[in-house]
Amino acid sequence: MAEVGAELSAAEEVARLREQLEAWNYQYYVRDDPTVPDAEYDRSLQRLRELEAANPQLLSPESPTQRVGATPLAQFRQVQHELPMLSLENAFNAEDMQDFNRRLLERLGRAPADELEFACEPKLDGIAVSLVYRDGRLQRGATRGDGTTGEDITHNVRTVASVPLRLRGAGYPPVLEVRGEIYLPRAGFEQINAEARERGEKIFVNPRNAAAGSLRQLDARVTARRPLQMCCYSVGLYEGGDLPPLHSAVLDRLQAWGLRINSESRVVTGLDACNAYYEELAARRAELPYDIDGIVFKVNDLALQQRLGFVSRAPRWAIARKFPAQEEMTRVLAVEFQVGRTGAITPVARLEPVFVGGVTVSNATLHNSDEVERLGLRIGDTVIVRRAGDVIPQVVAVIPEQRPESAQPVVFPDACPVCGSVVERAEDEAVLRCMGGLICQAQQKAAIRHFVSRRALDVDGLGDKLVEQLVDRGLVHNVADIFTLPRAQWLELERMGEKSVDKLLAALERSKATTLQRFIYALGIREVGEATAGNLARHFGSWEALVAADEEALLAVPDVGPVVADHLRQFFDSGDSLAVVRALRAAGVHWPDLEPVAAEALPLAGQTWVVTGTLETLGRNEAKAHLEALGARVAGSVSAKTHTVVAGPGAGSKLGKATELGTPIIDEAALLALLAQHGVQP
Ligand code: IVH
Repeated sequence: MAEVGAELSAAEEVARLREQLEAWNYQYYVRDDPTVPDAEYDRSLQRLRELEAANPQLLSPESPTQRVGATPLAQFRQVQHELPMLSLENAFNAEDMQDFNRRLLERLGRAPADELEFACEPKLDGIAVSLVYRDGRLQRGATRGDGTTGEDITHNVRTVASVPLRLRGAGYPPVLEVRGEIYLPRAGFEQINAEARERGEKIFVNPRNAAAGSLRQLDARVTARRPLQMCCYSVGLYEGGDLPPLHSAVLDRLQAWGLRINSESRVVTGLDACNAYYEELAARRAELPYDIDGIVFKVNDLALQQRLGFVSRAPRWAIARKFPAQEEMTRVLAVEFQVGRTGAITPVARLEPVFVGGVTVSNATLHNSDEVERLGLRIGDTVIVRRAGDVIPQVVAVIPEQRPESAQPVVFPDACPVCGSVVERAEDEAVLRCMGGLICQAQQKAAIRHFVSRRALDVDGLGDKLVEQLVDRGLVHNVADIFTLPRAQWLELERMGEKSVDKLLAALERSKATTLQRFIYALGIREVGEATAGNLARHFGSWEALVAADEEALLAVPDVGPVVADHLRQFFDSGDSLAVVRALRAAGVHWPDLEPVAAEALPLAGQTWVVTGTLETLGRNEAKAHLEALGARVAGSVSAKTHTVVAGPGAGSKLGKATELGTPIIDEAALLALLAQHGVQP
């Protein structure tokens, strides 16, 4: 009797845990609104695993513990779609949209000025999939294939956290086929590529390819490690139930049953509103955490959809208005080598100009020799160039079939292309470096550009063109020379009249009164960014104390590790560098010394902060640097240890989690006020 009682309570506990875990999953993956700390979730999942292991008769394929099967498949099984999976007609501009709207109104016998209701949805750039639920249980997942025949990927879709194994609530039809897109958010893409790079494996070209590669895995354990997402956009087959009469209401229903839908979806009335939605999302495209390649507009009324029907493989009632492509093909005309501030020599591909991501691109960085090797790139190759958002254009792949016979290998220089000095490649680095230091004109220019930049000495009006001329004409060799160049010589430069020279000299004069932090940052010591410069300034308080610091003393500064300490010591041990610093001080560059502050005494010492969403004035990186300079640690995710979250517009799950945990949340204005309070004026 006792045994039966124990088994019953185990069964009860298993049922309760499953229900709880499913509810948490739903909040987290479908509603983007986590309700429980990770640790609590993990404890419950672990408890469920233990109970199932002790009571194997309680195991069920729908249990949250059963997302990954153990044995890889030998091959994919083919599946027939009972209703074909269609594609969409494309629109490329407002005119195509107008034609689409006109055709709809004509077919429906409406007046030309009538306005139809449309469901607008981002067109996710992933893999189309079909999920079949029978009696609320996930029975089959399949790819679109050719629209009629796809591949059975049930074992893989089961590993996708936002695919429910069981539908929630009630009222779903006994047979329900849901269609949608499985995709990889950009952060997940970066993460798996970073891991692949570390292991020296092939990296994926874009999130779409990575999603496809992750889904078409015979071994579901591989899929399970990829942070894929599912987003549903329609219903295919359904039997034995009714659906609401509007597409948007169907999506709401899917969400209530535990399926994920896109939070950007909207219902609008009329063509103008469609166009406005398109423009709005086009402007926010780079901020979305996933790639989209356009907007899908669907007639919202299902009865009207029925009347409109299909042409060949696409519905008449929907259209995809595409965004400008983020990837295009073009040819590599040459590879040149640029020398940066620290002597790093970067190969740059000169491209046949191509319109991609909304701008004309004629150069793309190739990073370093490892990257050139990884791409297998030759001069003359046709390549895929990608430009997403404001990210600098990248060559993501070579198209080997289009390689001309005349293609030439990329040869890295054995001397600096600018000053002819020797180049070296440090053992553990992929980059070549010019060893010419400050005799190299490229390094001189880069050092001056950095020294006068806004966040360094902030010399207004000393732009790149002027710096080029100063160095090319041999008027200036280092950053100190700009303060001693006679007025007459400034006047000789192109486009420098009396007035502009007066203005520039006044700006130079103003810049001389600076802070120790800005000064250290402006020197451009390798790996010493703003935050580190701030930490050094506060820790040592004066230039003299900093220069006198040995490695051990440097390592005591927050944020300074052996590499940074080494770069600092090299700078302080170099007679040339110190001579430039002396010349700068002789020219009148000055700053107030600070009371040295120990790391523990910094105002935010011991606190962990999280920055999320868009910060309009500061930007996230700058906010992070300032917080670190005040002693805070800035983390990537919210946990019970988080002291405060700074949230800007567009903040997502981190904000949700902070709310759930009761973590203090402040906006950008409050952060600026806090910084000002501690004497930081961004
Ligand atoms: S509706 C009959 N909605 O775009 C309608 N498709 O060319 C068929 N896609 O492979 C699709 N986001 O995977 C629809 N919100 C969305 C979509 C979407 C992405 C993909 C879909 C299909 C392709 C259509």
